[in-house]
Amino acid sequence: MAIAGTDQYHDFHAHPDFAYLSGAAYPGSVLAFDPREGWNLFVPLASIDDRIWVGDGESLEGAATTTGIERPRPLSALASWLESHRGEPLAVLGNHDILQDAAAYGIRGWAPLEPELDVEASARLTERIAESRRTKDPSELSRMRAAANATAAGHRAAFRLARPGMTERALQVEVEAEFFRNGAARTAYGSIVGGGPNGAVLHFSPTARPFADGEIVLMDAAAEYEGYAADVTRTFPVGERFSGIQRDLYALVLGVQQQAVHDARPGVEYRDLHLAASLRIAEGLVSLGILRGSPADLVEQDVHALFFPHGLGHMLGLATHDAGGCLAGRTPSDRFGLKWLRADLPLQPGHVVTIEPGVYFIRALLTDPFRRSRYASQVNWDMVEQMLDFGGIRIEDDVLVTADGPEMLTASIPRELEEIEELRREGLRG
Ligand code: GLY
Ligand code: MN
Repeated sequence: MAIAGTDQYHDFHAHPDFAYLSGAAYPGSVLAFDPREGWNLFVPLASIDDRIWVGDGESLEGAATTTGIERPRPLSALASWLESHRGEPLAVLGNHDILQDAAAYGIRGWAPLEPELDVEASARLTERIAESRRTKDPSELSRMRAAANATAAGHRAAFRLARPGMTERALQVEVEAEFFRNGAARTAYGSIVGGGPNGAVLHFSPTARPFADGEIVLMDAAAEYEGYAADVTRTFPVGERFSGIQRDLYALVLGVQQQAVHDARPGVEYRDLHLAASLRIAEGLVSLGILRGSPADLVEQDVHALFFPHGLGHMLGLATHDAGGCLAGRTPSDRFGLKWLRADLPLQPGHVVTIEPGVYFIRALLTDPFRRSRYASQVNWDMVEQMLDFGGIRIEDDVLVTADGPEMLTASIPRELEEIEELRREGLRG
């Protein structure tokens, strides 16, 4: 459907399962597998109107070359293909509502066929594909390295160019331009750039607000390369140096991140990494006088989650929050400190995960009367009151789990405190 008032369409994102199985991303196409026939690809052919306004689209010959599937057919042939399989079990991957809402996918002539969806087989298949998508092969890893390299160029530009008076949006534009100059096809997700208090909004969309000296900037932005995402966050001062509590909290988050990266090894449960990081954050907040009590008890009661309300990270690949972060049968906890944990599985060689701890001062949480009374004694509310405009610190890197230990795909993007300050000095003076 066109975006209202534009006669243009939203940027097309292929379902990652489709992209994984076909190696292509054709809007509106359907990939079908029959054990006797092998793979079939049905591609919508552009109408004359489409060709006038949008372009020729993919040809059947082009689709055959790209996907290696012999004789792709026009989408209009799907109905007769389904008809010839009437009565056979059908499992659907990807957009599960395609059977109920075929017309929304541009598929006509499906409703009268009423194919019987095998719900259990679909769930089993979805899990099997998730399983193979979790482990990246060398060709996927080379795309992920390319995404990481383009991302590195963008983050380096941010360290160089940010300055007081520059807006979040202006920084976003510069950083994304570097991604594209370095091979990105698009950004992996909507860039998050927050100056000062805006850094406390986890997915903040950049605005025209200018950065002020003394603040920190949180920038979570990355490139996508041939469908594969990077996902990187850096936090840095608008001025030349982190000051006081910014420094202490940055050192805390960095220490937690480095330990979690170090521990990301085969067999380790991602949930345990998250809980260990939560404990270290609680310890750090106690030693800085922001929390009071035993760190283990604070984590048990989810008090740390007032300042770290998201998961340690997630799987990464064809999607930013990639395939099957949670093993089949594991359901997300409703505990406040665990409910946003997007990965719950034992790590295996070939998995790529993000490791992204953070500490934030989120007004919505920290001024909530219910939480203030519930955690009256565990939180130093006087200190918190002084820090409501602090913003947030997150440090995020992309880690490949290998039998020989973790490999940071985004290692070249500076994260050490002194290195960031050095780059800021050079940037502001240059
Ligand atoms: N980078 C955005 C996210 O991980 O949610
Ligand atoms: Mn992330």
